[in-house]
Amino acid sequence: MERFQFERLLATKHKRRRFLIGTLGVSASVIASQWTHRVVAQPSFSGYPFSLGIASGEPLPDGIVLWTRLAPEPLNGGGMPSVNVPVQWQVALDENMRNVVRRGTAIATPEFAHSVHVEVGGLQPDRWYWYQFKAGNEVSSIGRTRTAPARDTRVAQFRFGFVNCQDWQNGYYTAYQGLAQEELDLVVHLGDYIYEYGPQPGGPRQHNSPEIVTLADYRNRHALYKTDANLQAAHAAFPWIVTWDDHEVENNYASFIPEENQSQQEFVTRRANAYQAYYEHMPLRRLSLPRGPYLQLYRRFTFGDIAEFNVLDTRQYRSDQPCDDGLKPRCSEAFDPNATMTGTKQEQWLFRGLSKSQARWNVIAQQTMMAQYNFDARPGQEVFNLDQWDGYVAARDRLLKFLQQQQPSNPVVITGDIHSSWVHDLKTDFNNPNSPTVGTEFVGTSISSDFPEAFIPPTVAALSANPHTKFFDGKNRGYVRCHLTQNTWQSDYRVVSTIREPNATISTLASFVVPNGRAGAQQT
Ligand SMILES: [Fe+2]
Repeated sequence: MERFQFERLLATKHKRRRFLIGTLGVSASVIASQWTHRVVAQPSFSGYPFSLGIASGEPLPDGIVLWTRLAPEPLNGGGMPSVNVPVQWQVALDENMRNVVRRGTAIATPEFAHSVHVEVGGLQPDRWYWYQFKAGNEVSSIGRTRTAPARDTRVAQFRFGFVNCQDWQNGYYTAYQGLAQEELDLVVHLGDYIYEYGPQPGGPRQHNSPEIVTLADYRNRHALYKTDANLQAAHAAFPWIVTWDDHEVENNYASFIPEENQSQQEFVTRRANAYQAYYEHMPLRRLSLPRGPYLQLYRRFTFGDIAEFNVLDTRQYRSDQPCDDGLKPRCSEAFDPNATMTGTKQEQWLFRGLSKSQARWNVIAQQTMMAQYNFDARPGQEVFNLDQWDGYVAARDRLLKFLQQQQPSNPVVITGDIHSSWVHDLKTDFNNPNSPTVGTEFVGTSISSDFPEAFIPPTVAALSANPHTKFFDGKNRGYVRCHLTQNTWQSDYRVVSTIREPNATISTLASFVVPNGRAGAQQT
């Protein structure tokens, strides 16, 4: 408690009042409706209000987003009264919060489930900061975060981890225990932060509610996941950049097309609920404020001259899966030139960004596997996963041709979704092993979600029919740790000994290196 240095500001009621009035303007533009509720400056909480932890994200050279949500009863709607509550925040140069360089007050409103998203500016590039929140008499734990290096600076090395797919019911987040101990500048989450399903028996822990549909449902599900101590530790240790896949709304939805059993109107409302709850629980900027069933999530981050991340959203704008979706041979719809993963606007934004980039490594952070993979190795036979880019062949060809013709520096695709580890050469023609390799794809396994044991042998058997695939492992859960220098990119596949128990050991299953200027990974 004594670490928190708001006491001086709170010394008298009069002073505090001035302080609040003076700083409210900073966050007033965030939520126009904040005055619809009474402001209660000294609320008493029915429980610890920072039960969901703290987070930071969206690193820029001069700023960062700080996140928390007041939820004294996290699993039951949050437990906050319908009043606006000021949440004080401060940013310091040291882990003891002695040398505070920025502070202010954000207003947590019932409209956004008493979450706060503070866009802190005026920070120095490429350095660690620590942060903390206070509401009423309660203080949060202290988090650590880091700004990006300035755009025009030479950066010798950059380290990040990427993660995805954390089905609560399938296991413990032991991978986050390992991740939180790593030396990283950034964590990237590629989606399936929550799963929408009702409880399923058999796993080590279970969802506490039926399949989620309403805004209250989605809020409670995010809150359940956020109560995990390992996940909280990983958020508190690094800034995160997040994007979503399908399960943040519903399995394999595409644009406004649901998976099953809903009218389109029901699904539009459901998507709006899901998008709002996602915003409320992630350290996102105003750019990503939900507007009904829409939320802008594709965006770009630059880290000096070493890396630029193009973060994609391949669910919100995609055309329906072809051939009625599934694992099967491709029908003609899979080659439809009008089919899209990203929508036209996002595709053009991606191409423009890659054309202009000055970065050594150009990262495309996205959801489903980009490389072709034929799961049936028998001659003349084919089985493709049509929810992946294999169902959107023309869109993939446009991207890979663009990489071949425009030659942005070292394109590297990072991918989630499939709950297994892969490394691919990205070819201009996957059916011709002699065609140019124009990029490298690293697919990370899940934090906890299941890859069915029965799928492993046929997938392994098909490797010989997919020579551009350099690595596959379906057995292990974990994350990918990436170490970038000006000369090499190294990806280490970090895996845990178990997700059936709360604690595990962690080790490196395999490492791959991409040399600067030569697409394709080599195992070390
Ligand atoms: Fe998943």
